[in-house]
Amino acid sequence: MQTLACLNGELMPLEEAKVPVWDRGFLFGDSVYEVFRLYEGRIWLESEHTARLRRSLGEMEFPYVDLDLLLERVRRTISAGETDHGTAYIQITRGVSPRAHPFPKPPVPPTELIVVRPYDDAATAILRETGVAVVSQPDLRWGRCDVKSTNLLANVIALEHAHRAGRYEAILIDGDGLVTEATHSSVLWVREGQLQGTPDGPEILPGTKRHFLEKLAPQVGLPFVPTRIGLADLKGCDEVLLLGTTIEVLPVVTIDGEAVASGKPGPATQRLQTAYRAAVKRWLEGDEG
Ligand SMILES: Cc1ncc(COP(=O)(O)O)c(C=O)c1O
Repeated sequence: MQTLACLNGELMPLEEAKVPVWDRGFLFGDSVYEVFRLYEGRIWLESEHTARLRRSLGEMEFPYVDLDLLLERVRRTISAGETDHGTAYIQITRGVSPRAHPFPKPPVPPTELIVVRPYDDAATAILRETGVAVVSQPDLRWGRCDVKSTNLLANVIALEHAHRAGRYEAILIDGDGLVTEATHSSVLWVREGQLQGTPDGPEILPGTKRHFLEKLAPQVGLPFVPTRIGLADLKGCDEVLLLGTTIEVLPVVTIDGEAVASGKPGPATQRLQTAYRAAVKRWLEGDEG
C-alpha cells in the first residue's frame, strides 16, 4: 500500500503534489473537505459523504465541481495505491488567484486534491475497549460549523489544549454553556434510556457516523432524541461517546478528570459498537448498501 495524491486529476506520489501560494485554500482557508474511510478498498457511506461535500460546496457558492468525476478519481487513486484499509482525504479550494478577499471574477477552476493513504486501526481499536479521557474547551469556532470547511484553527487550538493535558479530545462548549460537538468528532450521550445529541444546525458538523448510529440505535433498544445539554449534565450522563470516520464509536470515560458514571465503557456504547461493526461487515459481504 502506498500513499498517493491525485491533484486536479493527475495521479502522483504525495511528495510531488504542490499547490501554488496564491491558492485560496492556503491564503484564506477558502476550501471544503471530506474524509472517506476505506474498508477492503471500498468507500464506506460514500453517498452520505458525497452529499455532505455537495452541500458544503453549494453553501459556500463554489463553482461547479463534477462529483462523479471526483469519485472516479478517488477510485483510481485507491486502486493505484492498492489501498485496502485507509482513508481518502478530499479538499476542494476556490482556486488560484492573486490575493484579494472577494471571490475571483470570473471564477477560476477549483483546486481539487485527493490523498489516499493506509490507516492502521490498531491504536484506536484499543481505545474502543478502554475508552478515552476528554476535556471541555470553549467553542470559539465560526457560525457555519455545518459546512466542512478547512477553517479549523479553533478546532486545532482546542485539541492542542486537550493533548497538553494528556487527554484524547476536547468537547466544545458554546457561549450559553451548551455542548456542541468535539474538535474532530461528534458527541452523543445516553440518559433516561435514550441516545441523545445536539440537534443538527449551524453549530455542528452533520456527522456521517453519528447519523448512521442514530439510525442503528433503535435496533439496540435506544431511541435517538435530539436535545441540547450543558456540561454539568453531560458529566452526569450514564454514557458519553465520540463518533467519527476513523474512530467509529469511542466511549468517553472521564471529562475534565471526572468519571462518567463508573468511569468504564458502558453497556449501551458497547451495544452500539457491536451494531456498528456488524453493519460494516454486512456491507462488506454485500448484504446491503
Ligand atoms: C468537527 C467535527 N465533528 C464531527 C466529525 C465527525 O464526522 P464524520 O462522522 O462524518 O467523520 C468530524 C470529522 O472530521 C469533525 O471534524
